[in-house]
Amino acid sequence: MSTTTRTAIVTGGAQGIGRAIVARLARDGMQVVIADRNEDAAEQTAAGIAGAGKDSVTALGVDVSDRSSVEAMVASAIERLGGVDILVNNAGIMDRASFLEMDDYFWQRVLETNLSGTFRCGQAVARHMAERGKGGRIVNVASNSGIFGGRGRAAYGASKAGIINLTQTMAIELAEYDILVNAVAPGPTKTKADQPDEPWPSVATRMPLKRYGRPEEIAEVAAFLASPACSFTTGHVISADGGFTISGIMEG
Ligand SMILES: NC(=O)c1ccc[n+]([C@@H]2O[C@H](COP(=O)([O-])OP(=O)(O)OC[C@H]3O[C@@H](n4cnc5c(N)ncnc54)[C@H](O)[C@@H]3O)[C@@H](O)[C@H]2O)c1
Repeated sequence: MSTTTRTAIVTGGAQGIGRAIVARLARDGMQVVIADRNEDAAEQTAAGIAGAGKDSVTALGVDVSDRSSVEAMVASAIERLGGVDILVNNAGIMDRASFLEMDDYFWQRVLETNLSGTFRCGQAVARHMAERGKGGRIVNVASNSGIFGGRGRAAYGASKAGIINLTQTMAIELAEYDILVNAVAPGPTKTKADQPDEPWPSVATRMPLKRYGRPEEIAEVAAFLASPACSFTTGHVISADGGFTISGIMEG
């Protein structure tokens, strides 16, 4: 994998964690394409990332739940960037519904966006990387909810657990092309101004660091997994969650 100017696609990079990942990669001098279904927001984010050179961050519209849309986006990104070194599969929806009330439409929408979207973008970009022969890095964004159960998260948790297993198989099959595939699993992260400052007590009492993560803290982990410095780690999930998933007895 090239250690000089690198190129990246970040799905769902118009806002939240994805935007922080775009900014972090751009800070490292990379050329980044934000691929988001909200193209206007993606354009604004690309234009607004402080410190980015005029053309170093650009935007493309995509719906990751639609194969033809993904293939068109990847083809445009390859043309624009001259080749893709890094894919960050971050686009996702976090909708929640009770297990007893969830209908097929809800289930499929969450799975199609989060899990199938990661499969489609990962496959389209990995085919390009394999053919190009320069290796690459793929970073999938999982979640705490893919590691343990959570109320209202039947579809969301299953989609993220699926991403963790998909990451392992992608790592095995893509190793021969020097494409390393890992996942970052964020814990509760404050991405919106109207979120409360503190996580719910049911979360905070199980979290050693007892606070929301910041998008930039998730981006640091993603940036490492996307970098040439990550050279002997593949198929793994790194949690960035204030210790939420490792906690057992917290007092007494
Ligand atoms: N925020 C958290 O607490 C948290 C915790 C764990 C994991 N995550 C994961 O991190 C990722 C980003 O979360 P966030 O909080 O920044 O979310 P967000 O809602 O702020 O941003 C998600 C972005 O994805 C885009 N998107 C959604 N569906 C899309 C589609 N079909 N095609 C293309 N783009 C699409 C949206 O337009 C948006 O820009 C998600 O995968 C989420 O599951 C978030």
